[in-house]
Amino acid sequence: MLKRLAIATGWARRTRNSPVARIAIALGACVLGVGGRLVLDPYLTGTPFITLFGGIVIAAFFAGFWPAMLTTALGAIALEILIMPRVAIARPHDMDWLPTTFFLLTSLMIALIIESVFRAHEDRLSVVEELARLNADLDSQVAERTRQLEQQVAERQVAEARLHQAEKMDAIGHLTGGIAHDFNNMLAIITGSLDLAKRRMGAQSDARIVSHIDNAANAADRAAALTHRLLAYARKQPLDPRRLDVNALVGSVHALLERSLGEQVIVGLHLDPAVWPCHADQTQLETAIINLAVNARDAMPDGGHLMIETGNIALDESYCGQQDDLTPGDYVQIAISDTGIGMSPEVQARALDPFFTTKDVGKGTGLGLSQVYGFLKQSGGHLNLYSEEGKGTTVKLYLPRATVREGRDAVDPDTTLRFVPPQNLTVLVVEDDDGVRAMARASLTELGFIVHDVDSPFEALQLIEAGLAIDLLFTDVVMPGMNGRQLAERLREIRPDLKVLYTTGYTRNAILHNGVIDNDVVLLVKPYSVDDLARKIIDALGPSLN
Ligand SMILES: Nc1ncnc2c1ncn2[C@@H]1O[C@H](COP(=O)(O)OP(=O)(O)OP(=O)(O)O)[C@@H](O)[C@H]1O
Ligand SMILES: [Mg+2]
Repeated sequence: MLKRLAIATGWARRTRNSPVARIAIALGACVLGVGGRLVLDPYLTGTPFITLFGGIVIAAFFAGFWPAMLTTALGAIALEILIMPRVAIARPHDMDWLPTTFFLLTSLMIALIIESVFRAHEDRLSVVEELARLNADLDSQVAERTRQLEQQVAERQVAEARLHQAEKMDAIGHLTGGIAHDFNNMLAIITGSLDLAKRRMGAQSDARIVSHIDNAANAADRAAALTHRLLAYARKQPLDPRRLDVNALVGSVHALLERSLGEQVIVGLHLDPAVWPCHADQTQLETAIINLAVNARDAMPDGGHLMIETGNIALDESYCGQQDDLTPGDYVQIAISDTGIGMSPEVQARALDPFFTTKDVGKGTGLGLSQVYGFLKQSGGHLNLYSEEGKGTTVKLYLPRATVREGRDAVDPDTTLRFVPPQNLTVLVVEDDDGVRAMARASLTELGFIVHDVDSPFEALQLIEAGLAIDLLFTDVVMPGMNGRQLAERLREIRPDLKVLYTTGYTRNAILHNGVIDNDVVLLVKPYSVDDLARKIIDALGPSLN
């Protein structure tokens, strides 16, 4: 019953919303009342308006107060005309206004009562609806806030992970930097001394002694390479980025790879002729490609295809946002793909970690990929690994596009070979480590220079102020009291055209921004051989040589 009433109320709410429906209901109810009275006329003598009450109730309920009044008025007029004259004749008395008035008042009351009950019900319904709406609102607000909080938590976790990673890199950087500094100084002495010993022995050397020296030199090279890889991972290796033609570089590495990877590995190239020049350290980029090619070879024990591709790519905001430390912009892409065994998701997740290797002891150090990754990050680039177990691996390297005339061009390797020992050029060596200084002095003397050496930048200043004429300042970068860069600047106040060659074992210093060498700086990385030193001297002296 209540349910039906609720349904009827629902209908009434709908019909009451339409003015046309309200008038139609009022008229319909009127026709019903008047018609009923006419049909039942013989049985209802004396009660002229009784059938209208049903119509008024319907009109009041489904159409509202005013339509009910319309039904009342029209019904009353119709019945006054059609019925009342007869009733008046049948029962003559002087109170014929009484039934009409009684009818009007009663119908007014019926309409009022129904309307107020309806309104009360209506109010209750709207309160319930409002409550439901508020509840739904609250639910959606709670859901929205929960989503926001989850997002904030996720963002914070990402930020914390990045911070953690940055702190880790910082700690590793400090540690490796500190070790590398001392280690490279020691290796500089070992390498240099072995080099000099071999040069001095000349033709009358005993083959066994030479092989001992070579062994020692090899071990020193490996130690230097290891230090270098650690520095690369820690993004602290001294880099010398230049404008590079990637296709030319890949072409020269390709020739080397074809010779060294073995016949079973077929090396293919796909070079985009319109590739942009990139800005990177030439030697390190070559090393990176060779590292990746060696990984590919190791992943293809029964042979396969190695493909090196170059191309241009613009990395947008949304892509860079998901990567660690990458700025949107133009990049040169080098992709190295193999058809090898691929990596499982677990191996892939850890492949960039230092010392992670799946190779047998002695076969891999696990520093290859971490070195490449560190180098790319330090160069403002990025690395992506794609691998499918059983199918192969692609490693994509992204390097920032070189802007117009940014940096120096890559050195033409031929120039480094034209070294003629200069005559009577004077070099001032500034180096705080006694062993390294002695070695530098010996190497320079061996190359035919006149050498002055001091162990502190202040002494160097005094010498120059006292009038010592030199052609080249060869200075360590990291020294107590004043660094090499500051020393060179002070000396240039006295000798503006002074040529400078810097040397360092790692990058925590003044001539490197973010590990990248300033454009005007020539840097020799420790440890170095006598030949390396000769090449850099040519670089530093430039046209003034000879
Ligand atoms: N092209 C590849 N295909 C399959 N697995 C690879 C590939 N490149 C790297 N890996 C996996 O990632 C691991 C780490 O590679 P990474 O170059 O850092 O070290 P490594 O090659 O093991 O040692 P190192 O490079 O020092 O000789 C490898 O041991 C290997 O499991
Ligand atoms: Mg490797």
